[in-house]
Amino acid sequence: MSLDATLARIDADLPAALDRLMALLRIPSISTDPAYADKCQQAADWLVEDLQSLGIAAEARATPGHPMVVGHVEGDGPHVLFYGHYDVQPVDPLDLWDRDPFDPAIEETAKGKVIRGRGSSDDKGQLMTFVEACRAWKAEHGSMPCRITFFFEGEEESGSPSLIPFLKENKEELKADIALICDTGLFESRVPAIMTQLRGLLGEEITLTGPDKDLHSGMYGGVARNPIRVLSRILANLHDDNGHIQVPHFYDGVPELSDEMTAQWEALNFDHGTFLGDVGLSKPAGEQDRSALEMIWSRPTAEINGIIGGYTGDGFKTVLPSKATAKVSFRLVGQQDPHALREHFRAWVRAQLPEDVSVDFHGHGASPASQMQTTHPAFESARSVLGAEWGHEAAFTGCGGSIPVAGYFKSILDMDTMLVGWGKDDDQIHSPNEKYDVESFHKGIRSWARILDAIR
Ligand code: BES
Ligand code: ZN
Repeated sequence: MSLDATLARIDADLPAALDRLMALLRIPSISTDPAYADKCQQAADWLVEDLQSLGIAAEARATPGHPMVVGHVEGDGPHVLFYGHYDVQPVDPLDLWDRDPFDPAIEETAKGKVIRGRGSSDDKGQLMTFVEACRAWKAEHGSMPCRITFFFEGEEESGSPSLIPFLKENKEELKADIALICDTGLFESRVPAIMTQLRGLLGEEITLTGPDKDLHSGMYGGVARNPIRVLSRILANLHDDNGHIQVPHFYDGVPELSDEMTAQWEALNFDHGTFLGDVGLSKPAGEQDRSALEMIWSRPTAEINGIIGGYTGDGFKTVLPSKATAKVSFRLVGQQDPHALREHFRAWVRAQLPEDVSVDFHGHGASPASQMQTTHPAFESARSVLGAEWGHEAAFTGCGGSIPVAGYFKSILDMDTMLVGWGKDDDQIHSPNEKYDVESFHKGIRSWARILDAIR
C-alpha cells in the first residue's frame, strides 16, 4: 500500500486528530506542582487508552513521581522507541494569557491557524503527531510500519526525578534500535531540523542570609549588611564585559566547533536579526567573540532565571531584608561536567561572601550535554524524505534547549536518538499564550508517516 494513501488519510482525519489533541490539552498536567498530581495521572490514563484503541499493549507505570506510559506493538523491520512528554509547565503569570490555558481553541491569526493552549507545542501536540501518524498507518495497512515502543514521561518539565531509575529498571524492555524524540522545532520556523547536539543543564538556587530578621532600612541602613547588595554583586560578576563567564574552571571541557560543523552552520545563513527582532531585541548579548548561532547551540551559558528578596509587593516598604535568593542555570556543552561545575560555582560564591553573610545552596537538575551519533541509517532516511513535506531540504542543526533523556538513552540503554520536531520559534513554549500551528501538527503527522515509511 502506498504512502500516498496514508497521507491522504491523515489529511481527511485532521479534524478528528485535532479534537483528540484538544481533549489531551484540557488536562492540566503540570508536573512541578503537587496539586496537579491527579491531573498528571489523568493525562497518562488518557494516553494509555488512546494507545490501546490502536491495538497497542499500553499501561501507565507507577513511579515515586508521575507515571510513565509504556506501550509496545509488534512489527517487522527495525525496532524504534518513540519518546514524548505529557507534562506541561506551570501557566503563571495567568493574567498574561488571552484565554484559559487549559481551555484550548483553534484561533485564526495573521500567520494562519494555531492551536492555543498550554502544552500545545511543548509537548502534547508534538507527541500526538507521532501517535496520529501511527493511527493513520494502522487504519490504512491494518498493522504498524515496524516494531514500536511508546514511552511517554510525565516529569520532563520538572527535572525527570524518576527517569534514571526507571530506565535502569526497565533496560531490556525499553531498549530499541533507535529512539525518536519529538520535542524540538524547525530551523527558523521553516526548515525541518534534525538536531545533532543538545546542551546540558545545571540548576542552582542560592540564598544569602545577612541579619537574622528583616530590619527598618532607616534604623539599620548603612550599618547593616544587605544580602541583596551582596547577591547582586556576585550575580554581576558571573560575566565579564565581553560576556565570558568568570567562574573558575567553567570552560573545562568546552570544545571548539569542528571545521565541518562550522561550515554546515554557516551554510544555514542564520538571520539573528529576525530571531532577536521577533522578541523586541537587536544585538546578540553573549560571548562577544562568538557568532549568534554558536551562542545558542555550541557555547555554554550562565543565566539568572529569578531573583527573590525584600519587599516586592505593591507600593513601597523601607525594609533591609534578612535574605536574598537567586535561581541560576548553566547550559552546558561538550564534556563540561555538571557535578564538578556545581562545586566550582559554590566555591566561587563562598569566596565572595563578606563578614556576616552566610549562604545556603539548593541544587536543581544536573545533566551533561549530548552529541547524537548520526551514522544510524534513520538519519539519512529522515533527511531524505522531510524535504518533500516542508519544501526545504532538512538540515542537521544544534539545539539550545536541553532534553536530558537523550543522553540517558545513550548512557543507560546504549541507544542512539534522533531528534526531530515541528515547533516554531514563536510558539511561546513555557510562556503565556503558548500555541502550535495547525500546519506544524498536520505536516508533523505527515512527516512521521514519511519517516516511518523510509526507515521500516
Ligand atoms: N522541549 C523543550 C526543549 C527545547 C526547548 C527544545 C527549545 C528545543 C527548543 C523541553 O521540554 C524543555 O523545556 N527542557 C528544559 C529542560 C528540563 C530539564 C527542565 C529546558 O531546556 O529548559
Ligand atoms: Zn518539551
